[in-house]
Amino acid sequence: MNLAESLTSPVFSVAGKTADQLGVDAYVVGGYVRDLILKRPSKDIDFVCVGSGIQLAEAIAKNLGKNIQVNVFKNFGTAQIRFEDLDLEFVGARRESYRSDSRKPIVEDGTLEDDQKRRDFTINALAISLNQKSYGELIDPFNGIADMKKKIIRTPLDPDITFSDDPLRMMRAIRFASQLNFDIEADTFNSIMKQKERIAIVSMERVIDELNKIVLSPVPSYGFKLLFHSGLLKEFFPEMVALHGVEYVGNNAHKDNFFHTLQVLDNVAKVSDDLWLRWAAILHDIAKPATKRYDKTHGWTFHGHEDKGARMTPGIFRKLKLPMDERMTFVQKLVRLHLRPIPLAKEVTDSAVRRLLFDAGDDVEALMTLCRADVTSKNLAKVDKILRNFDLVEKKMKEVEEKDHVRNFQPPITGDEIIAMFNLPPSKIIGELKETIKEAILEGEIKNDREEAMGLLLKVAKERGLKQSTNNQ
Ligand code: CTP
Repeated sequence: MNLAESLTSPVFSVAGKTADQLGVDAYVVGGYVRDLILKRPSKDIDFVCVGSGIQLAEAIAKNLGKNIQVNVFKNFGTAQIRFEDLDLEFVGARRESYRSDSRKPIVEDGTLEDDQKRRDFTINALAISLNQKSYGELIDPFNGIADMKKKIIRTPLDPDITFSDDPLRMMRAIRFASQLNFDIEADTFNSIMKQKERIAIVSMERVIDELNKIVLSPVPSYGFKLLFHSGLLKEFFPEMVALHGVEYVGNNAHKDNFFHTLQVLDNVAKVSDDLWLRWAAILHDIAKPATKRYDKTHGWTFHGHEDKGARMTPGIFRKLKLPMDERMTFVQKLVRLHLRPIPLAKEVTDSAVRRLLFDAGDDVEALMTLCRADVTSKNLAKVDKILRNFDLVEKKMKEVEEKDHVRNFQPPITGDEIIAMFNLPPSKIIGELKETIKEAILEGEIKNDREEAMGLLLKVAKERGLKQSTNNQ
């Protein structure tokens, strides 16, 4: 196969000519070649040469034009160039050999094939030649093209070796399967099952980087099912695995909350690419195992799972090395509020809508997306009815917000103003007065405006025996 036509950037022909001038063989390898064939746009290009990658990078930079900077990483024998919007990485082909008394490989210069077989999967072990005599020629010693056609993830060597060299590759196998909708070849999958515990030696940041790519893939449940069935998920995220299973008392079973969660995640994924909204779907029922009870009259209940789930969220984020900032509090808020719109779908009142708008603020649309995704009944008529009721809730939300502006609620009278008006020392009563005003607005007893709030404040203050300060009258 010759891919010269697909190498559209001038970088490739310049790289090839430069390699000829230096008398070395140079190739594009890895993810860029895979993505070129799969027609997925990519800006990261890896070059391998049989010789010094650093020397090649420096010569290419000169040939590409003036002022092109080369970043050299001597310790790794690699170099990097930024050219237009492309990120070019250069390395010399390497081979690894293992001494019987050490697990640490000796890395030496090698051939292109030595380099290809060190790679993770056959679809990532493809190379395209850049030298003039063979420009564009595909080198595919492990049948990566055939695997791409068959939609298969497979390691070039015995998978036990490939995964043992770098256990992160077990996550990568599932990540590529989920992103590309590929199967994992049986021996490769069995090896993941066998070696799953070794994921512990990889840093959580790298594991979660891959997990987030699974979360962001088109049908994330597929990746999660592979993580679950291989046993990998339990190794780093046992809280999610605890959702799995169905318990019976007599004929009463509850639903399997693991598969329910995955369905909610897929439903969110259909309408949103927001990683954190997808995380809210993953965590929305996370406290169900901890709150599960069986009650003779009500059957299975999970009372308070939304609050407990919200309390568990920071701990899970910390452990998984997810960001402990406003992204965590967003997920936490959605977990806490995920049941709130449900009763509104049965009976929608202005005051309940105002309270929800007040509590959810600008995240109310995200909350409604999660809530809609959470409707996973098999009874389609029922689903349809609930979703139509949510349409009405959202319509009502719009009307109420236009009228009352409670979504970004700002107290119409500030604490400082109350202090000055009644000549009070900072004390509990100020908070209580503000709360009374807020409650009256949310209940619809007064409008959300300063004049009505002032009227109420004066009335309540009088009842509580407060005197207006003379210089404020
Ligand atoms: N690679 C590997 N083992 C790893 C990581 C990477 O063998 N643990 C090799 C693969 O050949 C891969 C190449 O290095 O194609 C580049 O890796 P990377 O940039 O991390 O990933 P890509 O395959 O390019 O995929 P993506 O850009 O989607 O992360």
